[in-house]
Amino acid sequence: MVRTPTLAGRVAAVTGAGRGIGRAHAVHLATLGAAVVVNDVGSSMAGEGADASPANEVVAEIIAGGGRAVANGDDVSSFAGGERIVQCAIDAFGRIDILVNNAGIVSAGTLATVTEADLLRLFAVHCIGSIATARAALPFMLAQSHGRIVNTVSEAALDTRFTAGVAYGGAKGAVWAATIAMAAEVAGTGVTVNAISPGARTRMNEAMLAAAGTAAALGPEHIARVVALLVADDAGDINGAVVHAAGGAIREYQVARSGDTALVARLLGAAPAE
Ligand SMILES: NC(=O)c1ccc[n+]([C@@H]2O[C@H](COP(=O)([O-])OP(=O)(O)OC[C@H]3O[C@@H](n4cnc5c(N)ncnc54)[C@H](O)[C@@H]3O)[C@@H](O)[C@H]2O)c1
Repeated sequence: MVRTPTLAGRVAAVTGAGRGIGRAHAVHLATLGAAVVVNDVGSSMAGEGADASPANEVVAEIIAGGGRAVANGDDVSSFAGGERIVQCAIDAFGRIDILVNNAGIVSAGTLATVTEADLLRLFAVHCIGSIATARAALPFMLAQSHGRIVNTVSEAALDTRFTAGVAYGGAKGAVWAATIAMAAEVAGTGVTVNAISPGARTRMNEAMLAAAGTAAALGPEHIARVVALLVADDAGDINGAVVHAAGGAIREYQVARSGDTALVARLLGAAPAE
């Protein structure tokens, strides 16, 4: 079991918080004392339609539990949408300390089958969405020398064993790369940018997990507990990290750069090892 920090006095915005992992983030951060903007456009898994009720229901749940929350139905996938989500935190609670970019959609598009519209939609929600909200929150965070941003990546972008198509994997890979760029930009300012790679039972993967018999162990609450650690006041020295959390386990994804691999030896023209 991971530690539980306090977030009393902090203000958080969580995107895609009407369902699944985002809902768990919003409820957990509120339980720890943060006031929360529960953003969710209420779309289908493919990004179609809009419905205010998922965000409203999460807000009602947080308030019933004694917490503070407001709903926001903006679409993350434009600069204007990102600005309205951050402004919602400022208007409702006077500041923004924590931003969890969690909103996401899926597409089965492979290199052979992906459509241009699908590719643009996936990159808009995942990548532009994460940058748009962070860009809007950054001036407020820099002014108070404190901010915590967590983006959501996926093993579909990090590991060939978990590929989920070029649209989803490519968009999540772009979020990962944007996380590294953002972390470099904010280093030393009191603001941090990290990424969570979740594995949890939600509508996105319920059928697949049920078929594999692993759904029961993968509650989204575990992801929320790990994210709480990344946004805690005492996590100011964690910047540019990619953390995988699933089923109670935590792993760190690291990029290795080595001159001492079989591939490097081969490219250098060395004789293959016996
Ligand atoms: N479930 C997993 O195991 C898993 C694995 C890897 C990554 N992820 C990522 O975790 C995040 C949460 O996924 P989930 O499994 O909880 O899915 P989910 O479908 O249950 O929840 C995603 C939420 O995002 C909202 N949303 C979609 N587009 C939006 C937009 N443009 N603006 C605002 N809200 C929007 C949806 O309405 C939905 O409520 C996603 O980024 C997903 O790609 C999930």
